[in-house]
Amino acid sequence: VSALAGAIRWAPDGHAAELLDQTLLPEAEVWLRIETADAMAEAIAALRVRGAPAIGIAAAMAVALAAKRHVAEPADRFRAGVEHAAQRLVGTRPTAVNLAWAVDRMLAAMRAAPATIEPAVLAARLHEEASAILEEDRLMCRRIGEHGVTLFPAEPVSVLTHCNAGALATGGIGTALAPIYIAHERGRRVRVFADETRPLLQGSRLTTWELQRAGVDVTVVPDSVAALLLRDARVHMVLVGADRIAANGDVANKVGTYGLAVLARHHGVPFYVAAPTSTIDVRSASGRDIAIEERDADEVRRGFGRLTAPPAASVYAPAFDVTPAELITAIVTDRGILHPPYGGSIRQSLSA
Ligand code: MRU
Repeated sequence: VSALAGAIRWAPDGHAAELLDQTLLPEAEVWLRIETADAMAEAIAALRVRGAPAIGIAAAMAVALAAKRHVAEPADRFRAGVEHAAQRLVGTRPTAVNLAWAVDRMLAAMRAAPATIEPAVLAARLHEEASAILEEDRLMCRRIGEHGVTLFPAEPVSVLTHCNAGALATGGIGTALAPIYIAHERGRRVRVFADETRPLLQGSRLTTWELQRAGVDVTVVPDSVAALLLRDARVHMVLVGADRIAANGDVANKVGTYGLAVLARHHGVPFYVAAPTSTIDVRSASGRDIAIEERDADEVRRGFGRLTAPPAASVYAPAFDVTPAELITAIVTDRGILHPPYGGSIRQSLSA
């Protein structure tokens, strides 16, 4: 049994993207065919595809799909059509910087092309650029895994994770889950505790699904159990992904991550973050500069269709929180393991 190889790909005919609808997991495995940038924007907003690297890949593919759609138009209308789609995509989710990063990279590829280039040639180039973003992400996941696995103590290693930072969230074997998959591949004994991750249950629905499918020993726990696991020394480390890493090492990730970091510090357990270089945003000086998404209150009031609070209850439910750099033991990237002080280690890793 092996890890899922990502949940987003080109359709064999190259005219559409295909993605595994994550809102339906674990009940049903349905691959969607996405033919337009608008359909992809809907899929990103509805979390059919989610996780920082995966939404970057999805948005890049959507820009390429917009180019295909406008290919028969004059060059200026073609470019305007692509720019318009890019704008719409960037507005879908604000926190994960990979989305804006990927769209910027697609637009830069378009703007770098000479004005005389045929739309059809440029559209083909944009398809290639999106494919490159997907392939690079796959490789970055492997490298994160290779670096991360060196942090694992003697087996059997027991890891607590939050949300889903696995194959479903990337173009490869994940970020936080990559070292786990690599250790498992090498026959090492690994045990994972997956926080269920309220309110949308990415941990119990997605992380548990993909680890179990790959044959990794995984136990789902309600979020509120984490304190006990840490107190009782039942986990060697906390390992999570990131939606955006600021220049000073503050990390935005799924809400609840900050609380885990505080708990880990209190109990003397290392707290690691794993993310590709594309998640580092040096334009955010610190966590205070990161926009935190708030989703529809009904995701809390009507959890999966049932009333889970009075219908008119007032709800405060940011989708992400920021873990201050001082609580993070190390950050695992595709370029290596970054240690505090992060201002310097991040700068150095990006310039290498
Ligand atoms: O709202 P989501 O499901 O997109 O949130 C995802 C997370 O917070 C992940 O931990 C993060 O994107 C890292 S994914 C490799």
